[in-house]
Amino acid sequence: MTEQNGKLRVAIVGCGMIYREHMMALRELADSVEVVAAVDKERSCLDVMRDTWGMPEASLYADWKSMLAAVKPDAVDVCLPNYEHLPAALDAIAAGCHVYMEKPLAMNVAECKTMLAAAKEKNVKLAVGFQQEYNPGTTILTNAREAGFFGDLRYVHGSLLRRRGTPNWGIYYSRELGGGPVLDIAVHLLDVITYVCGRPEPARVTASYFYGEGKTSDKVYCSSPNWNTRDYNVEDLAVAHITFANGLVVQLETSYVNHIKEDCVYDFKLGGSKGGAWWQSGKAPELYTDMLGAMMNITPAFLPSQGRPDMFRRKLENWVNACRTGSELLLPGEVGLYIQRILDAIALAARENKEVEVSC
Ligand SMILES: NC(=O)c1ccc[n+]([C@@H]2O[C@H](COP(=O)([O-])OP(=O)(O)OC[C@H]3O[C@@H](n4cnc5c(N)ncnc54)[C@H](O)[C@@H]3O)[C@@H](O)[C@H]2O)c1
Repeated sequence: MTEQNGKLRVAIVGCGMIYREHMMALRELADSVEVVAAVDKERSCLDVMRDTWGMPEASLYADWKSMLAAVKPDAVDVCLPNYEHLPAALDAIAAGCHVYMEKPLAMNVAECKTMLAAAKEKNVKLAVGFQQEYNPGTTILTNAREAGFFGDLRYVHGSLLRRRGTPNWGIYYSRELGGGPVLDIAVHLLDVITYVCGRPEPARVTASYFYGEGKTSDKVYCSSPNWNTRDYNVEDLAVAHITFANGLVVQLETSYVNHIKEDCVYDFKLGGSKGGAWWQSGKAPELYTDMLGAMMNITPAFLPSQGRPDMFRRKLENWVNACRTGSELLLPGEVGLYIQRILDAIALAARENKEVEVSC
Protein backbone atom coordinates (compact mmCIF):
# COMPACT_ATOMS: atom_id res chain seq x y z
CA MET A 1 0.00 0.00 0.00
CA THR A 2 1.24 3.48 -0.89
CA GLU A 3 -0.49 5.41 1.86
CA GLN A 4 0.53 9.02 2.41
CA ASN A 5 0.16 10.39 5.94
CA GLY A 6 -1.26 6.98 6.85
CA LYS A 7 -4.35 7.68 4.76
CA LEU A 8 -5.87 5.43 2.11
CA ARG A 9 -5.57 7.17 -1.29
CA VAL A 10 -8.92 6.61 -3.01
CA ALA A 11 -10.02 7.47 -6.56
CA ILE A 12 -13.71 7.82 -7.36
CA VAL A 13 -14.68 6.47 -10.77
CA GLY A 14 -18.09 7.68 -11.99
CA CYS A 15 -19.29 11.07 -10.73
CA GLY A 16 -22.98 10.98 -11.68
CA MET A 17 -25.61 10.60 -8.96
CA ILE A 18 -24.61 8.16 -6.22
CA TYR A 19 -20.97 9.30 -5.97
CA ARG A 20 -22.26 12.29 -3.95
CA GLU A 21 -23.22 10.05 -1.04
CA HIS A 22 -19.82 8.34 -1.31
CA MET A 23 -18.02 11.68 -1.37
CA MET A 24 -19.88 12.89 1.73
CA ALA A 25 -19.05 9.64 3.54
CA LEU A 26 -15.38 9.68 2.50
CA ARG A 27 -15.05 13.31 3.60
CA GLU A 28 -16.42 12.30 7.01
CA LEU A 29 -13.72 9.63 7.12
CA ALA A 30 -11.02 12.20 6.33
CA ASP A 31 -8.80 10.97 9.18
CA SER A 32 -8.21 7.74 7.30
CA VAL A 33 -9.01 8.52 3.63
CA GLU A 34 -7.95 11.04 1.04
CA VAL A 35 -9.85 11.29 -2.26
CA VAL A 36 -6.93 11.79 -4.63
CA ALA A 37 -8.64 11.58 -8.03
CA ALA A 38 -12.02 11.55 -9.75
CA VAL A 39 -12.95 10.11 -13.13
CA ASP A 40 -15.91 10.83 -15.38
CA LYS A 41 -16.25 10.86 -19.14
CA GLU A 42 -18.55 13.91 -18.88
CA ARG A 43 -16.64 17.18 -18.50
CA SER A 44 -19.62 18.73 -16.66
CA CYS A 45 -19.29 16.08 -13.92
CA LEU A 46 -15.60 16.84 -13.51
CA ASP A 47 -16.42 20.55 -13.27
CA VAL A 48 -18.69 19.74 -10.31
CA MET A 49 -15.85 17.81 -8.69
CA ARG A 50 -13.66 20.90 -8.98
CA ASP A 51 -16.21 23.61 -8.19
CA THR A 52 -18.35 21.89 -5.55
CA TRP A 53 -15.93 19.47 -3.96
CA GLY A 54 -12.76 21.53 -4.36
CA MET A 55 -10.77 18.86 -6.18
CA PRO A 56 -7.72 20.23 -8.04
CA GLU A 57 -8.04 20.21 -11.85
CA ALA A 58 -4.93 18.00 -12.04
CA SER A 59 -6.75 15.25 -10.09
CA LEU A 60 -9.60 15.00 -12.63
CA TYR A 61 -9.57 12.43 -15.44
CA ALA A 62 -11.86 11.50 -18.32
CA ASP A 63 -10.93 7.80 -18.25
CA TRP A 64 -9.91 5.42 -15.50
CA LYS A 65 -6.97 3.84 -17.35
CA SER A 66 -4.99 7.09 -17.53
CA MET A 67 -5.97 7.91 -13.95
CA LEU A 68 -4.70 4.53 -12.69
CA ALA A 69 -1.40 4.97 -14.55
CA ALA A 70 -0.82 8.56 -13.40
CA VAL A 71 -2.19 8.58 -9.83
CA LYS A 72 -1.53 5.00 -8.70
CA PRO A 73 -4.25 5.12 -6.01
CA ASP A 74 -4.43 2.52 -3.24
CA ALA A 75 -8.11 1.95 -3.84
CA VAL A 76 -10.88 2.71 -6.31
CA ASP A 77 -14.50 3.46 -5.47
CA VAL A 78 -16.58 2.50 -8.52
CA CYS A 79 -19.85 4.42 -9.04
CA LEU A 80 -20.26 3.60 -12.73
CA PRO A 81 -23.32 2.24 -14.55
CA ASN A 82 -23.72 -1.50 -14.07
CA TYR A 83 -22.43 -2.56 -17.51
CA GLU A 84 -19.09 -0.92 -16.74
CA HIS A 85 -18.54 -2.48 -13.31
CA LEU A 86 -16.50 -5.43 -14.58
CA PRO A 87 -14.10 -3.61 -16.96
CA ALA A 88 -13.39 -0.88 -14.41
CA ALA A 89 -12.86 -3.41 -11.61
CA LEU A 90 -10.51 -5.56 -13.70
CA ASP A 91 -8.33 -2.57 -14.59
CA ALA A 92 -8.28 -1.32 -11.00
CA ILE A 93 -7.45 -4.77 -9.62
CA ALA A 94 -4.74 -5.28 -12.26
CA ALA A 95 -3.22 -2.02 -10.99
CA GLY A 96 -3.15 -3.51 -7.48
CA CYS A 97 -6.05 -1.42 -6.12
CA HIS A 98 -8.67 -2.40 -3.58
CA VAL A 99 -12.15 -1.93 -5.04
CA TYR A 100 -15.44 -0.70 -3.65
CA MET A 101 -18.13 -1.69 -6.16
CA GLU A 102 -21.58 -0.15 -6.02
CA LYS A 103 -24.41 -2.65 -6.29
CA PRO A 104 -25.03 -4.89 -8.14
CA LEU A 105 -21.53 -6.37 -8.22
CA ALA A 106 -21.82 -6.93 -11.99
CA MET A 107 -24.29 -7.77 -14.76
CA ASN A 108 -24.45 -11.54 -14.18
CA VAL A 109 -22.90 -14.51 -12.37
CA ALA A 110 -20.13 -15.03 -14.94
CA GLU A 111 -18.97 -11.41 -14.57
CA CYS A 112 -19.08 -11.65 -10.77
CA LYS A 113 -16.92 -14.78 -10.83
CA THR A 114 -14.38 -13.13 -13.15
CA MET A 115 -14.16 -10.12 -10.81
CA LEU A 116 -13.81 -12.26 -7.70
CA ALA A 117 -11.09 -14.42 -9.25
CA ALA A 118 -9.10 -11.33 -10.22
CA ALA A 119 -9.40 -9.84 -6.72
CA LYS A 120 -8.33 -13.12 -5.14
CA GLU A 121 -5.31 -13.46 -7.41
CA LYS A 122 -4.13 -9.92 -6.59
CA ASN A 123 -5.10 -10.25 -2.92
CA VAL A 124 -7.08 -7.00 -2.85
CA LYS A 125 -10.26 -6.20 -0.93
CA LEU A 126 -13.39 -6.21 -3.09
CA ALA A 127 -16.57 -4.92 -1.41
CA VAL A 128 -20.09 -4.73 -2.81
CA GLY A 129 -22.18 -1.60 -2.17
CA PHE A 130 -25.27 -2.69 -0.28
CA GLN A 131 -26.13 -0.70 2.85
CA GLN A 132 -29.16 -1.99 4.77
CA GLU A 133 -26.79 -4.13 6.87
CA TYR A 134 -25.77 -0.85 8.52
CA ASN A 135 -29.36 0.01 9.47
CA PRO A 136 -29.91 -0.57 13.23
CA GLY A 137 -33.42 -1.86 12.47
CA THR A 138 -31.86 -4.63 10.39
CA THR A 139 -29.45 -5.47 13.22
CA ILE A 140 -32.38 -6.05 15.58
CA LEU A 141 -33.75 -8.67 13.20
CA THR A 142 -30.41 -10.46 12.77
CA ASN A 143 -30.05 -10.43 16.56
CA ALA A 144 -33.55 -11.92 16.80
CA ARG A 145 -32.72 -14.73 14.36
CA GLU A 146 -29.45 -15.54 16.10
CA ALA A 147 -31.27 -15.63 19.48
CA GLY A 148 -33.81 -18.12 18.07
CA PHE A 149 -36.66 -15.60 18.33
CA PHE A 150 -38.15 -16.63 14.97
CA GLY A 151 -37.71 -20.40 15.43
CA ASP A 152 -37.60 -22.01 11.98
CA LEU A 153 -37.76 -19.43 9.22
CA ARG A 154 -40.77 -20.21 7.04
CA TYR A 155 -41.78 -17.38 4.74
CA VAL A 156 -40.83 -13.84 3.74
CA HIS A 157 -42.89 -11.47 1.61
CA GLY A 158 -40.86 -8.51 0.39
CA SER A 159 -41.79 -5.47 -1.70
CA LEU A 160 -39.75 -2.78 -3.34
CA LEU A 161 -42.45 -1.21 -5.44
CA ARG A 162 -42.47 2.18 -7.08
CA ARG A 163 -45.73 3.48 -8.48
CA ARG A 164 -43.95 5.58 -11.14
CA GLY A 165 -40.23 5.50 -10.48
CA THR A 166 -37.96 4.80 -13.42
CA PRO A 167 -34.87 6.92 -12.72
CA ASN A 168 -34.76 9.79 -15.23
CA TRP A 169 -30.95 9.75 -15.37
CA GLY A 170 -28.40 7.09 -16.21
CA ILE A 171 -29.07 3.75 -17.92
CA TYR A 172 -31.89 2.35 -15.80
CA TYR A 173 -34.31 2.13 -18.78
CA SER A 174 -32.06 -0.37 -20.60
CA ARG A 175 -31.82 -4.12 -20.01
CA GLU A 176 -28.54 -4.38 -21.96
CA LEU A 177 -26.87 -1.66 -19.85
CA GLY A 178 -27.97 -3.12 -16.52
CA GLY A 179 -31.26 -1.37 -15.77
CA GLY A 180 -34.69 -2.55 -14.67
CA PRO A 181 -36.16 -2.89 -11.19
CA VAL A 182 -34.85 -6.41 -10.57
CA LEU A 183 -31.17 -5.58 -11.09
CA ASP A 184 -31.47 -2.00 -9.82
CA ILE A 185 -33.70 -2.09 -6.72
CA ALA A 186 -34.86 -5.63 -5.91
CA VAL A 187 -31.17 -6.35 -5.46
CA HIS A 188 -31.31 -4.28 -2.22
CA LEU A 189 -34.43 -6.07 -1.01
CA LEU A 190 -32.96 -9.49 -1.69
CA ASP A 191 -29.78 -8.47 0.06
CA VAL A 192 -31.46 -7.33 3.28
CA ILE A 193 -33.87 -10.29 3.40
CA THR A 194 -31.15 -12.88 2.90
CA TYR A 195 -28.88 -11.10 5.40
CA VAL A 196 -31.58 -11.21 8.06
CA CYS A 197 -32.26 -14.87 7.19
CA GLY A 198 -28.55 -15.83 7.46
CA ARG A 199 -27.82 -16.13 3.71
CA PRO A 200 -29.41 -19.56 3.26
CA GLU A 201 -28.53 -21.56 0.15
CA PRO A 202 -30.98 -20.69 -2.68
CA ALA A 203 -32.45 -23.68 -4.52
CA ARG A 204 -35.26 -22.93 -7.01
CA VAL A 205 -37.01 -19.91 -8.51
CA THR A 206 -40.14 -19.08 -10.47
CA ALA A 207 -40.77 -15.55 -11.71
CA SER A 208 -42.90 -13.38 -13.96
CA TYR A 209 -41.96 -10.07 -15.61
CA PHE A 210 -44.54 -7.61 -16.95
CA TYR A 211 -43.64 -5.09 -19.66
CA GLY A 212 -44.93 -2.07 -21.52
CA GLU A 213 -46.22 0.73 -19.27
CA GLY A 214 -42.80 2.32 -18.83
CA LYS A 215 -42.72 3.16 -22.52
CA THR A 216 -45.56 5.66 -22.09
CA SER A 217 -46.10 6.44 -18.43
CA ASP A 218 -44.26 9.74 -18.39
CA LYS A 219 -47.53 11.13 -19.72
CA VAL A 220 -48.93 11.34 -16.15
CA TYR A 221 -47.88 13.71 -13.38
CA CYS A 222 -45.17 12.07 -11.29
CA SER A 223 -42.27 13.11 -9.09
CA SER A 224 -39.55 11.83 -11.43
CA PRO A 225 -40.84 12.37 -15.00
CA ASN A 226 -39.15 12.34 -18.41
CA TRP A 227 -37.20 9.13 -18.26
CA ASN A 228 -36.09 7.58 -21.54
CA THR A 229 -39.40 6.08 -22.70
CA ARG A 230 -38.16 5.70 -26.29
CA ASP A 231 -35.49 3.11 -25.44
CA TYR A 232 -37.23 1.69 -22.35
CA ASN A 233 -37.10 -2.11 -22.62
CA VAL A 234 -36.94 -3.25 -18.97
CA GLU A 235 -39.65 -4.90 -16.92
CA ASP A 236 -42.22 -2.60 -15.30
CA LEU A 237 -43.02 -5.12 -12.60
CA ALA A 238 -41.50 -8.45 -11.54
CA VAL A 239 -42.76 -11.07 -9.11
CA ALA A 240 -40.54 -13.93 -7.94
CA HIS A 241 -40.90 -16.96 -5.69
CA ILE A 242 -37.60 -18.29 -4.31
CA THR A 243 -37.25 -21.57 -2.41
CA PHE A 244 -34.15 -22.10 -0.26
CA ALA A 245 -32.51 -25.40 0.64
CA ASN A 246 -33.55 -24.98 4.30
CA GLY A 247 -37.22 -24.75 3.30
CA LEU A 248 -37.52 -20.96 3.55
CA VAL A 249 -39.75 -19.42 0.88
CA VAL A 250 -39.24 -15.81 -0.19
CA GLN A 251 -41.76 -14.00 -2.35
CA LEU A 252 -40.61 -10.74 -3.91
CA GLU A 253 -42.31 -8.03 -5.92
CA THR A 254 -40.60 -5.04 -7.46
CA SER A 255 -41.57 -2.32 -9.92
CA TYR A 256 -40.67 0.92 -11.65
CA VAL A 257 -44.28 1.23 -12.86
CA ASN A 258 -47.21 -0.24 -10.97
CA HIS A 259 -50.73 0.86 -10.17
CA ILE A 260 -50.58 0.96 -6.37
CA LYS A 261 -51.72 3.53 -3.83
CA GLU A 262 -48.30 4.48 -2.47
CA ASP A 263 -45.48 6.29 -4.24
CA CYS A 264 -43.07 3.64 -2.96
CA VAL A 265 -43.26 0.55 -0.74
CA TYR A 266 -40.01 -0.90 0.64
CA ASP A 267 -40.57 -3.53 3.28
CA PHE A 268 -40.69 -7.22 4.10
CA LYS A 269 -42.70 -9.40 6.45
CA LEU A 270 -41.04 -12.46 7.91
CA GLY A 271 -42.84 -15.39 9.48
CA GLY A 272 -41.11 -18.10 11.52
CA SER A 273 -42.36 -21.00 13.61
CA LYS A 274 -41.99 -19.00 16.87
CA GLY A 275 -41.94 -15.36 15.87
CA GLY A 276 -42.24 -12.90 13.03
CA ALA A 277 -41.25 -9.38 12.05
CA TRP A 278 -42.04 -6.47 9.79
CA TRP A 279 -39.01 -4.61 8.42
CA GLN A 280 -39.68 -1.24 6.81
CA SER A 281 -37.12 1.04 5.18
CA GLY A 282 -36.45 4.06 7.38
CA LYS A 283 -38.74 2.89 10.19
CA ALA A 284 -38.25 0.86 13.34
CA PRO A 285 -39.00 -2.84 12.90
CA GLU A 286 -41.87 -4.60 14.64
CA LEU A 287 -41.50 -8.09 16.07
CA TYR A 288 -44.32 -10.52 16.85
CA THR A 289 -44.45 -13.54 19.13
CA ASP A 290 -46.51 -15.30 21.79
CA MET A 291 -45.41 -14.21 25.26
CA LEU A 292 -46.91 -14.07 28.78
CA GLY A 293 -50.08 -15.71 27.51
CA ALA A 294 -50.71 -13.22 24.73
CA MET A 295 -49.83 -12.46 21.13
CA MET A 296 -47.31 -9.65 21.62
CA ASN A 297 -46.14 -6.91 19.27
CA ILE A 298 -42.69 -5.57 20.16
CA THR A 299 -41.08 -2.33 18.99
CA PRO A 300 -37.76 -0.74 20.02
CA ALA A 301 -38.14 2.30 22.26
CA PHE A 302 -35.08 3.97 20.73
CA LEU A 303 -32.99 3.48 17.60
CA PRO A 304 -29.92 5.37 16.37
CA SER A 305 -30.20 7.04 12.95
CA GLN A 306 -31.30 4.89 10.05
CA GLY A 307 -30.58 7.66 7.52
CA ARG A 308 -28.69 7.09 4.29
CA PRO A 309 -25.69 9.30 5.21
CA ASP A 310 -25.05 7.11 8.25
CA MET A 311 -25.43 3.88 6.31
CA PHE A 312 -23.10 5.13 3.56
CA ARG A 313 -20.50 6.28 6.10
CA ARG A 314 -20.60 2.92 7.83
CA LYS A 315 -20.40 0.89 4.62
CA LEU A 316 -17.43 2.83 3.30
CA GLU A 317 -15.76 2.85 6.71
CA ASN A 318 -15.92 -0.95 6.79
CA TRP A 319 -14.16 -1.11 3.41
CA VAL A 320 -11.59 1.59 4.26
CA ASN A 321 -10.70 -0.23 7.48
CA ALA A 322 -10.41 -3.53 5.64
CA CYS A 323 -8.08 -1.96 3.04
CA ARG A 324 -5.92 -0.31 5.71
CA THR A 325 -5.76 -3.03 8.32
CA GLY A 326 -6.69 -6.27 6.53
CA SER A 327 -9.85 -6.63 8.66
CA GLU A 328 -12.83 -8.62 7.34
CA LEU A 329 -15.35 -6.97 5.04
CA LEU A 330 -18.98 -7.19 6.13
CA LEU A 331 -20.03 -7.25 2.47
CA PRO A 332 -17.28 -8.87 0.39
CA GLY A 333 -17.68 -9.51 -3.35
CA GLU A 334 -18.85 -13.04 -2.50
CA VAL A 335 -22.10 -11.53 -1.19
CA GLY A 336 -22.54 -9.82 -4.57
CA LEU A 337 -22.10 -13.20 -6.28
CA TYR A 338 -24.57 -14.89 -3.90
CA ILE A 339 -27.22 -12.25 -4.71
CA GLN A 340 -26.43 -12.39 -8.42
CA ARG A 341 -27.00 -16.16 -8.51
CA ILE A 342 -30.58 -15.51 -7.40
CA LEU A 343 -31.02 -12.53 -9.76
CA ASP A 344 -29.82 -14.57 -12.75
CA ALA A 345 -32.24 -17.36 -11.80
CA ILE A 346 -35.12 -14.86 -11.52
CA ALA A 347 -34.36 -13.49 -15.00
CA LEU A 348 -34.04 -16.99 -16.49
CA ALA A 349 -37.23 -18.25 -14.84
CA ALA A 350 -39.17 -15.26 -16.17
CA ARG A 351 -37.70 -15.62 -19.66
CA GLU A 352 -38.39 -19.34 -19.90
CA ASN A 353 -41.63 -19.19 -17.92
CA LYS A 354 -40.72 -22.19 -15.77
CA GLU A 355 -39.13 -23.08 -12.45
CA VAL A 356 -35.32 -23.04 -12.61
CA GLU A 357 -32.58 -24.23 -10.27
CA VAL A 358 -30.23 -21.60 -8.87
CA SER A 359 -26.76 -22.22 -10.30
CA CYS A 360 -23.71 -22.69 -8.10
N1 LIG B 1 -26.36 1.85 -3.04
C1 LIG B 1 -27.35 2.59 -3.51
O1 LIG B 1 -28.31 2.91 -2.81
C2 LIG B 1 -27.30 3.05 -4.94
C3 LIG B 1 -28.19 4.06 -5.37
C4 LIG B 1 -28.10 4.48 -6.69
C5 LIG B 1 -27.18 3.90 -7.56
N2 LIG B 1 -26.35 2.91 -7.12
C6 LIG B 1 -25.41 2.26 -8.03
O2 LIG B 1 -24.34 3.17 -8.29
C7 LIG B 1 -23.89 3.03 -9.64
C8 LIG B 1 -23.96 4.37 -10.34
O3 LIG B 1 -25.31 4.79 -10.37
P1 LIG B 1 -25.69 6.34 -10.65
O4 LIG B 1 -27.17 6.41 -10.49
O5 LIG B 1 -24.83 7.22 -9.88
O6 LIG B 1 -25.34 6.42 -12.20
P2 LIG B 1 -25.11 7.73 -13.06
O7 LIG B 1 -25.43 7.38 -14.46
O8 LIG B 1 -25.79 8.89 -12.41
O9 LIG B 1 -23.53 7.99 -12.91
C9 LIG B 1 -22.56 7.25 -13.58
C10 LIG B 1 -21.46 8.21 -14.03
O10 LIG B 1 -20.45 7.41 -14.68
C11 LIG B 1 -19.98 8.14 -15.80
N3 LIG B 1 -19.42 7.18 -16.76
C12 LIG B 1 -20.07 6.23 -17.46
N4 LIG B 1 -19.21 5.51 -18.19
C13 LIG B 1 -17.99 6.01 -17.95
C14 LIG B 1 -16.70 5.69 -18.42
N5 LIG B 1 -16.46 4.69 -19.30
N6 LIG B 1 -15.64 6.43 -17.97
C15 LIG B 1 -15.84 7.46 -17.12
N7 LIG B 1 -17.05 7.79 -16.64
C16 LIG B 1 -18.11 7.08 -17.05
C17 LIG B 1 -21.20 8.85 -16.34
O11 LIG B 1 -20.86 9.98 -17.12
C18 LIG B 1 -21.94 9.23 -15.06
O12 LIG B 1 -21.61 10.54 -14.62
C19 LIG B 1 -24.77 1.93 -10.25
O13 LIG B 1 -24.11 0.70 -10.18
C20 LIG B 1 -26.00 1.91 -9.37
O14 LIG B 1 -26.63 0.65 -9.33
C21 LIG B 1 -26.40 2.49 -5.82
